[in-house]
Amino acid sequence: MYTAAVITVSDKGFAGERVDTGGPLVCELLKAAGYEVAYTALVPDDIPQIAEQLKKCADELDIALAVTTGGTGFSPRDVTPEATIQVCERLAPGIPEAMRWESMKITNRAMLSRAQAGIRGGTLIVNLPGSPKAIKENLEAVLPSLDHGLEMLRGPKRDCAEDK
Ligand code: MTE
Repeated sequence: MYTAAVITVSDKGFAGERVDTGGPLVCELLKAAGYEVAYTALVPDDIPQIAEQLKKCADELDIALAVTTGGTGFSPRDVTPEATIQVCERLAPGIPEAMRWESMKITNRAMLSRAQAGIRGGTLIVNLPGSPKAIKENLEAVLPSLDHGLEMLRGPKRDCAEDK
């Protein structure tokens, strides 16, 4: 079982002005796909704070898959892709390409997501947009293929029983 982290990026969520439904939805989808969600965080749309969380996931927690939700659009505060590029050692453009390709079949507005994906150490980082609809559509487009990428990055999945 691979570990996952979910980082919600939202000024309003962080300020308590909006209940975060995106983060819990990502957790639910990841758990249903067999991931152990080992860490969650809620941060404002701020590059240093997003970058700090992503570095923590990779460098301290050795999370296999770190997913962000929110902050991928065009509003001046949307900076999740910039924070992601800043911390990644290698980019994985095929993942957001696939998300946008599949999403364009549903809505032309899919082109407005600037989501990125990349690798830091043994951690794959994937950005998702913020709305529950977009989260589901984007994640479902790539989730089945991420396993193979993680196997190449980290080696075969460990069975929980092997740890005992
Ligand atoms: N992708 C899918 N599959 N479905 C959607 O409804 N919404 C788009 C886009 N990607 C959408 C989508 C819209 S309207 C925006 S503005 C961008 O994601 C960025 O969203 P964010 O600012 O919440 O990250």
